[in-house]
Amino acid sequence: MKKQNIGLIGLGVMGQNLILNMEDKGYSVAVYNRTSAKTEDFAKGAAKSRNILPTHSLKEFASSLETPRKIILLVKQGKPVDDYIKKLIPLLDKGDLIIDAGNSYFKDTVRRNKELNDLGLLFIGTGISGGEEGALKGPAIMPGGQKEAYNLVEDMFKKIAAKSYDGVPCVSYIGPDGAGHFVKMVHNGIEYGDMQLIGECVWAFKNALDMNSEEIAQILTGWDSNDNVLRSYLVEITGESMKEKDKKTGEYLVDRTADITRMKGTGTWTVQSALELLVPIPTITAAVFSREMSQDKDLRLKVSKRLSTFKEKYVGEKERFIEIAHDALYLAKISSYAQGMALLQAASKEYKWDLNLGEIVKGWRSGCIIRAQFLDEVTKAYEKNPEIPNLLTAPRFAELVKKDLNKLANFIEIAHWVKVPAPAMDNAFDYILQLASPVMVSAQVSALQRDYFGAHGYFKLKGIDDPEVMTTKEGKIREFHTEWMLPGRPEEEI
Ligand code: 6PG
Repeated sequence: MKKQNIGLIGLGVMGQNLILNMEDKGYSVAVYNRTSAKTEDFAKGAAKSRNILPTHSLKEFASSLETPRKIILLVKQGKPVDDYIKKLIPLLDKGDLIIDAGNSYFKDTVRRNKELNDLGLLFIGTGISGGEEGALKGPAIMPGGQKEAYNLVEDMFKKIAAKSYDGVPCVSYIGPDGAGHFVKMVHNGIEYGDMQLIGECVWAFKNALDMNSEEIAQILTGWDSNDNVLRSYLVEITGESMKEKDKKTGEYLVDRTADITRMKGTGTWTVQSALELLVPIPTITAAVFSREMSQDKDLRLKVSKRLSTFKEKYVGEKERFIEIAHDALYLAKISSYAQGMALLQAASKEYKWDLNLGEIVKGWRSGCIIRAQFLDEVTKAYEKNPEIPNLLTAPRFAELVKKDLNKLANFIEIAHWVKVPAPAMDNAFDYILQLASPVMVSAQVSALQRDYFGAHGYFKLKGIDDPEVMTTKEGKIREFHTEWMLPGRPEEEI
C-alpha cells in the first residue's frame, strides 16, 4: 500500500482542521485518535473521499507512514504528550520526526527534544495560532527544534500556513529545542494584553459615555477599518461579538455573559518566565491578574456589597474621549508588545536561541490571533535595526510616545474618575515612564532603605547631573555602605 506523507494524532477540532488543510495542499495523511469512534466519525464525515487514512492502533498508524516519518501530535499539553511519545518510540526508526503542535510548556519541549535526540529521533515543538479557522484555512506556525527537523517539513508548513498580504507565509524556523513554544507562549501573553486593553476601553465607554454594546461595537468597527493603526483581528471580533444578541432574551449577549475569564496556562507561564529572566512585562502581568480577579466572582460579589466606589460623571465631549481612547489604546499596545519583545530578546540570550525578532513578528502578521496591521510597522522597525534596545526606541514609536503619552494619561485619569479599573493601560503607561527615566527616584529611595535596615550596600551616581553609575578605573561598579547607627554616619566603600 502507498504510504502516507504525514501522520496526525488527536482528532479534536484543531487536529481535524489541520488534517483537512494538509490534505487540501496535496498531502496524504494517516490519522489516529485515542477513541476509535471519533476516528470513524471523522473518516465517514469530513474526511470522506479524501486522501486521509483512518488507523486504529499506533502500530498500524506508524507503519502506514513513509519514512522518515513525520508525526504531528495535537493532544492536551503535559502528560498526554509524554505518554504518546513513549508509546511511539518503539515504533519509530532513527531520523523520524515527532512534532508537538499543542501549547506545551517550553521547558518540557527542551527536555523532550533532548531525550528524543539522544535516541536519534527528531523533535519539533511548534506553536500554531489561529484557532479552529486558522488550522483549516492557514494558521501562523512557530516551529522550534533541530534545523534538520525543520528542513523535513518546511515546504509543507509553508503551504499550509497563512499568507500575509505580500504573499509571505506566516512561518519561519524559530530556533532550537523550546524556542518555538516559547515564542508561542509570548504570543499568547501578548494576546492576553491586547484582549485586556480592548476590554478596558469597552468598560470606559460604558461608564463614561453611557453607551450600549451596539454603539461601542460601531466604534470598534471604525477602528478596524482600512489604514487605521488599530486594525486587527481582536478589535474586529470584539466589535462583532458585541453586536450579538442573547438568543433567548434579545439582550446584548455581552451584557449577559458572566464576567469570568478562564485561561489554560500560557499567560501564566509568560509571567513566570519573565520573573525568572528578570524582564518586566507589567501589562501582560496585569492582564493575567485581571483574569484571576475575574475568577473570584463570589468574593467580588461579597466585597462589592460593602465597598462603594462612587462613579463620577464624565463631563467632557464624547468624540474627544473616543479619540483619546483610540490613541491611548494604540500606544498601550505598543508598550505591551515592547514588553513581550524584550522578553523574547532576554530568552534568546539566556537560552542561546539566536531569535530573529523581525522574522518572528513578520510571521504574526496573518493567521494568528494577534494579527494586526501595525505589525508591519514593528517588522520594519526590526528590519531597520535588529539591535534596537527596546521596541519603543524605534524612531516611529519614539515619535508616538512623544505625541500620545499624555493621551494615555488622560485615558487612565478619565477611566479612574468614572471608576473603571485600567490595570493594563496603567502598566503600559508606567512601563514607558520607568523605561524613559534616567534616574528612578523610587529606586534611589529603596536602595538606601535596604542599606539602612540590612546593610545591603548601594551604588552611587557619578554626579547629581550625571546619571551614570560610578565605577572604578577597571570598569567595576563601586559599592558603598553607610554606618547608619554610628555618630556622624560614616560612609565606607565595600
Ligand atoms: C491561538 C490561541 C490559543 C489559545 C486559546 C486559549 O493562538 O490560537 O492563543 O492557542 O490557547 O485561545 O487560551 P487561554 O485559555 O489561555 O485564554
